[in-house]
Amino acid sequence: GPAGLGVEINIDYVAVCVVDLAGTDRVRLVEHVDNRGVPPSQVLAHAARLAARAIGSAAEQDLLPAGVHLALPGLVTGGTVRQAPNLGWQRVAVEGLFAQALLALRPAHRALPVSSDNEANAAALAELWFGAGTEGVRSFLYLTGEIGVGGALVLRGELLRGAHGFAGEIGHMVLEPDGPLCRCGARGCLEQYAGQAALLRAAGIDADSGVRGVTDLGRRARRGEPAALAAIEQAGRRLGLVVSGAVNLFDPDAVMLGGAYRELMEWLAPAVERELALRVVSGLWTEDGKRLRAASPLGDAARGAAGVIVREVLEDPAAYA
Ligand code: BGC
Ligand code: NA
Ligand code: ZN
Repeated sequence: GPAGLGVEINIDYVAVCVVDLAGTDRVRLVEHVDNRGVPPSQVLAHAARLAARAIGSAAEQDLLPAGVHLALPGLVTGGTVRQAPNLGWQRVAVEGLFAQALLALRPAHRALPVSSDNEANAAALAELWFGAGTEGVRSFLYLTGEIGVGGALVLRGELLRGAHGFAGEIGHMVLEPDGPLCRCGARGCLEQYAGQAALLRAAGIDADSGVRGVTDLGRRARRGEPAALAAIEQAGRRLGLVVSGAVNLFDPDAVMLGGAYRELMEWLAPAVERELALRVVSGLWTEDGKRLRAASPLGDAARGAAGVIVREVLEDPAAYA
């Protein structure tokens, strides 16, 4: 039967997921690679290879993806990445490049329709559709700690897109106008204080060590290493400042933290909660301590992306029969 195929291309990993019409994960592949400095066409061709493998595994389970949805760490509109700061990409026609690469790998097959979105948006949709943490929660702010800091806002069950599809870029909220230079070109953005590299650097861990570095940071925090605890506390404080502002602006039911934040939740949450208690003007935040929640694990942007295709099939089953 038909299924959805989601592909998340991030800075230091690629994740692929096939979801069936019941919303169950049927195939999931994650590959750790450094995509920085690699030409976009090569990154997309690599992702297409992983996708082709997933399509093969899906076929063994009698599942045929009806389309592919790409999730990318940048500003995405009309099939193009306008800017992906930490990949160093500008104006990359991702849908076309990916479709071409996939077709080259499967010349005997019908081309799959390709669509695309920001990866934090896709992860937020995964929370909305599949996440256990969002039961009864229709309005939430989603933040993901990647190399950059991603964001998305779901209001009353709908993803807020803005005029061009660029809403939710919380990682580039400015905390210090003269702060460190961000890959977006501005100074003092949140991700310069609370992105993975900043977190690791502050803890004395190799800033480029990615997911492994985050796991290491968690291990050190568990052992009570002061440098690790201080680094997470500092990032949590900065995160809390920005999240408080967003809560005041949008009044969500909950704030979900994903990516590296999810792994560091135990130590991060108290610092973020402290700022929220201090700065959410409605005062409502303190009435329910469970509004700050851990999101789903690494790669769930891929799951949300697959969910986008599943939703399309469910909305028009005749078109996919
Ligand atoms: C990008 C966002 C992305 C986030 C997390 C930021 O630098 O601007 O689009 O969601 O990093 O990867
Ligand atoms: Na977003
Ligand atoms: Zn920035």
